[in-house]
Amino acid sequence: MSSIFSYNKIDENILSLLVSAIGKNNVSSDREKLISYSHDEVPSSTYEDEHMAETLVFPENSSHVSKIMKIASAHRIPVTPRGAGTGLSGGALPAFGGIVMSFEKMNKIIELDEKNLTVTVEPGVVTGEISKLAAQHDLLYAGDPCSGDASYIGGNIAENAGGNKVIKYGATGAQILALEVVLADGSVTWFGGKRRKDVTGLDFVHLMAGSEGILAIITKAVLKLLPLPKHSVDLIAAFPDAETAIAFVPQIIKKGGLIPASIEFMDRKAMELAEKYLNNPVPASGAGAALIIQLEENDQDVLDKQYEKIGKLSKENGAYEVYVADTRSTKERIWQARKAIPEATSFFYSRYIKEDLVVPIDRVPDLLEEIKKVCVKRNLEWVAYGHAGDGNMHCTVIGPDSDDWHEVLRKVQDEIYPTVINMGGTLSGEHGIGFKRKEFMKLFLDKNHLELIKRVKLAFDPDNILNPGKIVEWND
Ligand code: MLT
Ligand code: ZN
Repeated sequence: MSSIFSYNKIDENILSLLVSAIGKNNVSSDREKLISYSHDEVPSSTYEDEHMAETLVFPENSSHVSKIMKIASAHRIPVTPRGAGTGLSGGALPAFGGIVMSFEKMNKIIELDEKNLTVTVEPGVVTGEISKLAAQHDLLYAGDPCSGDASYIGGNIAENAGGNKVIKYGATGAQILALEVVLADGSVTWFGGKRRKDVTGLDFVHLMAGSEGILAIITKAVLKLLPLPKHSVDLIAAFPDAETAIAFVPQIIKKGGLIPASIEFMDRKAMELAEKYLNNPVPASGAGAALIIQLEENDQDVLDKQYEKIGKLSKENGAYEVYVADTRSTKERIWQARKAIPEATSFFYSRYIKEDLVVPIDRVPDLLEEIKKVCVKRNLEWVAYGHAGDGNMHCTVIGPDSDDWHEVLRKVQDEIYPTVINMGGTLSGEHGIGFKRKEFMKLFLDKNHLELIKRVKLAFDPDNILNPGKIVEWND
């Protein structure tokens, strides 16, 4: 990869500076280790180049991060922050070598404050651990990415991870009250605080959400907590086809008079893959498509009435069967199936592109229709699943079994993207740009917008050492 910025290589002198700053156990240039930090969850066949760091660092606290950044900025070394490596756009892969900064040692939950309903965490805490701790205190951490059992909260913030409960609670960004960050020159500052309102200065907290590590490095986060709903139920409604299922989505809220915690969509192929992969029957499999509708309430009687109403509405709107999961094991079966779809896809196929397109919810039927049209025309298979409640669909197009599969899939993107733009949609709802989607930014954002992103980036990081090669194209 080339850049208009120039970087130095890590030599013996820089290595010894790093070792004396953070200790030799926290620095590694071991080749095997470098390899294991050189990929994320995107299939390696997607990228043409290999992305290896020259050195890995494992800071234990903010002061370590600050010292590393002082060395990196003095010597113009690129630094790529990395969470658990569960990313889906190459955001944690080093485009220009240099340092990969892993947060696995900064994994403490610092404080759970029941009076202010906050939890303060380091970036390397596994997101699911935050939810578990909160639940032990009858509280809810509402961020719920599908990767929550593995991904780190720092990565969730950097990607503004969405997931299954965005329709009711918002994405990760909506859960953040404050962030401690280390800037490119190594200085440390806080954005926000344990307060529910704040117009003192600019809203940098939410600028950081989804900034993919290109502006500053997150070293602590104060997250919002909510009372934990006492009861929940999952309905899985089987529909004859995707169109009928999707057309029902806006009705759930309008006619149901409530906001479900989740409305997830799976097409027939997605359910078949999950079933085959898990070797376990998926409720509603064999249906043309299914919706998972999760409802939460504190009062069981109210919840019972709600799910009866939504079940009835589903049938009136084309569902031919509605399964109710109200025990832990039946709920787990449904969600295990939904969450297994991406893994099942990568298990059974190696040549595919997974899209993260998001459109206004009334255009989801048109999006699915467009994918179908484009794929049928080329005789390609596709899998569609995703967050129907917020219009974010993961349509995955399977590449043909031929050497030109990259080009074929590229043509598919060239055809679909302008249509998505016409629908008022955009390129990524939650997986991010990284370098996987960087070349398409100019289709979705106009020149003025792109220029402003560059100016913001340079205001934070004038030498472009923080996660260079992501989001922004400098050479055009
Ligand atoms: C999902 O919705 O399952 C996640 O975004 C992960 C994925 O699609 O790979
Ligand atoms: Zn998703």
